[in-house]
Amino acid sequence: MLSLAVSMPVQLLFSVVITWFGSSDALMDLEPVRAESPLLRPKVLIAILARNSEHSLPFYLGCIERLDYPKDRIAIWAATDHNTDNTTAMLQEWLSGMESLYHSPWRANSYVDEMGPKHWPDSRFTHVMKLKQAALRSARAQWADYILFADSDNLLTNPDVLTKLIAENRTLVAPMLESRTLYSNFWCGMSMQGYYKRTEEYIPIRNWKRTGCHAVPMIHSTMLLDLRRNSSKALAFYPVHQTYPWALDDIMVFSFSARQAGVQMFVCNREHYGYLPIPLSVQQTLDEEVESFSHTLTEAMLEFPLEPSRYLYNLQKNKDRLAFDEIYLINLERREDRRERMLRSLEVLGIEVTLSDAVDGKALNSSQLQALGIEMLPDYQDPYSGRVLTRGEVGCFLSHYNIWTQVVKQQQQQVLVLEDDVRFELNFKSRLNTIMEDAKRAQLNWDLIYVGRKRLQVKRPENWVKGVKNLVNPDYSYWTLGYALSLQGAKKLLDAQPLSKMLPVDEFLPVMFNKHPKKEYMAHFEQRNLLAFSVEPLLLYPTHYTGEPGYTSDTETSTIWDDENKATDWDRQLTHKKRNRGDAGPTPTWNRGHGDEL
Ligand SMILES: *[C@@H]1O[C@H](CO)[C@@H](O)[C@H](O)[C@H]1NC(C)=O
Ligand SMILES: *[C@@H]1O[C@H](CO)[C@@H](O)[C@H](O)[C@H]1NC(C)=O
Ligand SMILES: *[C@@H]1O[C@H](CO)[C@@H](O)[C@H](O)[C@H]1NC(C)=O
Ligand SMILES: *[C@@H]1O[C@H](CO)[C@@H](O)[C@H](O)[C@H]1NC(C)=O
Repeated sequence: MLSLAVSMPVQLLFSVVITWFGSSDALMDLEPVRAESPLLRPKVLIAILARNSEHSLPFYLGCIERLDYPKDRIAIWAATDHNTDNTTAMLQEWLSGMESLYHSPWRANSYVDEMGPKHWPDSRFTHVMKLKQAALRSARAQWADYILFADSDNLLTNPDVLTKLIAENRTLVAPMLESRTLYSNFWCGMSMQGYYKRTEEYIPIRNWKRTGCHAVPMIHSTMLLDLRRNSSKALAFYPVHQTYPWALDDIMVFSFSARQAGVQMFVCNREHYGYLPIPLSVQQTLDEEVESFSHTLTEAMLEFPLEPSRYLYNLQKNKDRLAFDEIYLINLERREDRRERMLRSLEVLGIEVTLSDAVDGKALNSSQLQALGIEMLPDYQDPYSGRVLTRGEVGCFLSHYNIWTQVVKQQQQQVLVLEDDVRFELNFKSRLNTIMEDAKRAQLNWDLIYVGRKRLQVKRPENWVKGVKNLVNPDYSYWTLGYALSLQGAKKLLDAQPLSKMLPVDEFLPVMFNKHPKKEYMAHFEQRNLLAFSVEPLLLYPTHYTGEPGYTSDTETSTIWDDENKATDWDRQLTHKKRNRGDAGPTPTWNRGHGDEL
């Protein structure tokens, strides 16, 4: 006890002495050298030019606000005018919501609706050029380090895109943006007239065969300009360079000024950065633009769970069921990822669906199968692996079967059945509507219309249906991604009593319209008079093809009937090979007609 009491003051004294010495000038060099703090990030001005962008703004701005970059190092410059929609109010709402976050002193005076002339100028391009130049001028006046131009329908889904582009340390650099076609925001070649020219380098870059940052003659739509570079001073959208020889177009004018200033343009595809819509013709209506953009959105949503801006009031989009009494979406309860993605896409497309719980094959046991009277079709063998039905295939069949039963029970005249792993073709809704209307006008008697499928007889052309555009008589096909079904069709499918001689549902359908190549399968079904059609070109594709990264099929990978003690006929030929249906044909991303159009 004593020793403790004595030692305390000694320690205290000691520490006082040290403190005293520590503050003396004589011992200054004992002080540890403190590390420098990190540099603040470069200052970036983001230029937003929006016009009639009500449809894209919530998602566009959502991407901007999710950029992983300190907001107090970002200034927003926004301009909008000549709107026929709610763009002005939306931008205003967003800007005031973001005011406290972004570096607001920088906010250019060019607030919404104050920019630009009050009347529509002779040329839309001149107007856009003047606006972009104003943004550039503002960035320079504010001594911004960078200016990021991003068109108001470009979706920068990669939150690191700004940081990554800055790290490239180039004067002018664009992130390669994706679309459903070959279209992107860069060119590899330019014609004598300054227009787009296709060159050999384009496709390998566009589909990531060659990755990196590539020197190109044109980048547009979304690009980052380093204003600290001396050469950047010479870049301009307006006025047009004295020797400018080409048509008035803001991207061509700017690329010409870069060329004159000796500034190389670069496009980077080291990563996936975002999406942009395919440009339509100048005569496009706003409705067409909106539909095209919703397609871009659903495409982006395949890879990225895009949410609209949190700082914008979100108007509920009007949804409908097209020409159908009901649109069923088949989804396994445990596949929440697919459900969420599909519901988001359908929301964007304005399609109202009814969720239909898929039967989980994995959860079925023999007694349940017996109770349902399920028997496998004698001699059925998977054509590729030679094995029998999987649990998943039985579950899938029952999921469709349950819907057919619903249709008959509720006497629904026509329904649409969708699986949950589909991607929608451009203008899905209006194109399907047109076909259904044409079919009605032509009084076509139909039971089933494929909207998405895998054609198996690719060599033999299918016959066009007279009087209805874009409809064919389908040959042997796989998949049940999506199909329209009439009440009469549902009755025929049920009357065939398929549970007692089950085969995969996508083999059953061709049997029912008498186009299955295996006569021995067809022999088990007497009435094979299903009036089947298919839209052409198809309007639905699978989200992932077999073998592509991310491909998981619930029917093709589930374990085979092997956990029941009681032997059933089902597990005669167990094999763990996947039911691979061969080459799935061209990936839908490429070469389906659009090309790298511009
Ligand atoms: C226009 O946008 C504002 C801001 O998002 C919103 O409050 C308003 O309800 C919208 N008006 C219409 C007619 O959509
Ligand atoms: C960026 O490029 C300049 C030359 O253009 C060079 O001096 C500088 O070191 C580079 N910065 C980085 C971080 O690579
Ligand atoms: C910047 O560019 C101008 C020409 O545009 C040139 O006269 C000047 O010397 C350059 N400055 C530096 C520091 O290179
Ligand atoms: C099969 O599953 C049902 C429902 O989950 C259950 O009631 C039944 O007991 C199961 N039968 C066997 C043999 O496991």
